[in-house]
Amino acid sequence: MGFMSALLGRRGIMACTWAVESVVINHLKEQLIYLGNANDQEALATVQAIMDDEVNHRDEGLAQGGANSIWYQPLRWSISVFTESVIRFGMR
Ligand SMILES: [Fe+2]
Repeated sequence: MGFMSALLGRRGIMACTWAVESVVINHLKEQLIYLGNANDQEALATVQAIMDDEVNHRDEGLAQGGANSIWYQPLRWSISVFTESVIRFGMR
């Protein structure tokens, strides 16, 4: 995914970054809810720190134009679906 995005240049890389991180952040939000309900403070703090990093990456992708070009919408959509699939497959 990264290689294919890189072929499209800097905005392609940023579109890939934004798409991956957006999906990952949604997944981490689910994990935070689960860990909060399980009252696992150590795991909660670890996942929260990871999420803070991913939010920064997503926001950088946004700031660098990764989410605002309609030409990259199919790329963002495909990367989002692929990332979601990998996460769901990994959770099985
Ligand atoms: Fe990241």
